[in-house]
Amino acid sequence: MKSFNYYSPTEVIFGKDAELKVADAIKKHGGSRVLIVYGGGSVVKSGLLERVEQSLTKGGLSSTAIGGVSPNPHLSFAKMGIKKASEFNADFILAVGGGSVIDTAKGIAHGLPNPETDIWLYWTEEVTLTKSTPVGVVLTISAAGSETSDSAVLTDKATGTKIGYSTEFNRPKFAIMNPELTHTLMPYQISCGIVDIMMHTLDRYFTLTEGNEITDEIAESLLRVVIKNGKIAKKDQHDYQAMSELMWCGSISHNGLTGLGADTDFAPHQLGHELSGMFDVAHGASLSTIWGSWAEYCYEAKPQRFAQFGKNVWGIEKSTVEETARAVIEETVGFFASLGMPTCFTELGIGVQSEETLRKLAERCVFYGKRTVGSFKVLDKEGAYQIYKLANR
Ligand code: NZQ
Ligand code: ZN
Repeated sequence: MKSFNYYSPTEVIFGKDAELKVADAIKKHGGSRVLIVYGGGSVVKSGLLERVEQSLTKGGLSSTAIGGVSPNPHLSFAKMGIKKASEFNADFILAVGGGSVIDTAKGIAHGLPNPETDIWLYWTEEVTLTKSTPVGVVLTISAAGSETSDSAVLTDKATGTKIGYSTEFNRPKFAIMNPELTHTLMPYQISCGIVDIMMHTLDRYFTLTEGNEITDEIAESLLRVVIKNGKIAKKDQHDYQAMSELMWCGSISHNGLTGLGADTDFAPHQLGHELSGMFDVAHGASLSTIWGSWAEYCYEAKPQRFAQFGKNVWGIEKSTVEETARAVIEETVGFFASLGMPTCFTELGIGVQSEETLRKLAERCVFYGKRTVGSFKVLDKEGAYQIYKLANR
């Protein structure tokens, strides 16, 4: 086990009607003037926004709201939010939604006390963030894990660049999680979420670090629980128990726990972000599209790890490690397909891409040669290109 620091300070308030505790949670964490951030309207339609606003008023808090965050949220929207927060003199940012809304709220939170700095410079790591504003979350979709993660992902639409930025300032003060709020999701979004939750653990699980027993056990059991309850949720999204398991797994999968003590990989995420940046596809769909090709290209770095994944998560054990590794890749890709998720470019709806586009995706992925991605098998521009090429069908 490698040395690590583990800091996961977000207070989790879980269960039916948990959103009614929002005012107390904000007050506990020092807020009095609240900017509420929400997405394209699902929380208006479901009545959640109104319930939250009423709770804040009842709790004696002032609030104003900004809605319209899109999936793969835009930097420009976060900047609009900073202006609104500043005009309102907000001291607390409340995200009511999923990863896109939460990440936008984090961007607003960072920009508010730093008016002299273009927040994109934090994302490009040209400037170090030293102060921010507290953020709370009312979660409406089990997927990105942003409700407890140290990360926020924004897209600069002008260049099609999608970047994830990690800092301890990104950890929300609290996350309110009522699984009933996910009953209104579209089936496709549930599938995207299942893939993303799995991938936050898989991108940590595929590591060359040896001897990490408890972390491996946590990761493998999380994957089994997500697969089992993902199947139930796809049949009946009103199954409270299944939606609860997915919601809690979504947070645990990305709060750092399933990768402690080991190097993490995250190459599929980086490869997927380029697809979302260029084609504006859903995050979960970008991951299911790329994972099988990534696995095919990388599994030889340590086929035993794939065999362990096969045995402990899928119950697959063939006569050789190589056979098991290949079978588990097929099984995992088949599971994504059974959820209705794309596993190649044409299924993703972007068609077969030109050689030039594949090269461009690969170049962007490695920041034009300034970085490599992954650690299970370190990918340079050529490696990234080969994976895009495998998915280009
Ligand atoms: O915008 P509304 O109308 O609310 O609709 C949303 C949106 O269209 C809808 N939705 C959410 N909750 C709903 C609902 N519809 C009905 N009922 C509900 N209860 O779902 C759609 C997708 O929402 P979004 O917030 O985009 O989903 P998700 O949570 O998957 O977030 C994806 C974003 O998070 C980033 C992704 O890259 C992507 O930009 N990620 C953030 C991470 C982080 N900060 O730690 C890590 C992840 O790896 C990921 O990269
Ligand atoms: Zn993700």
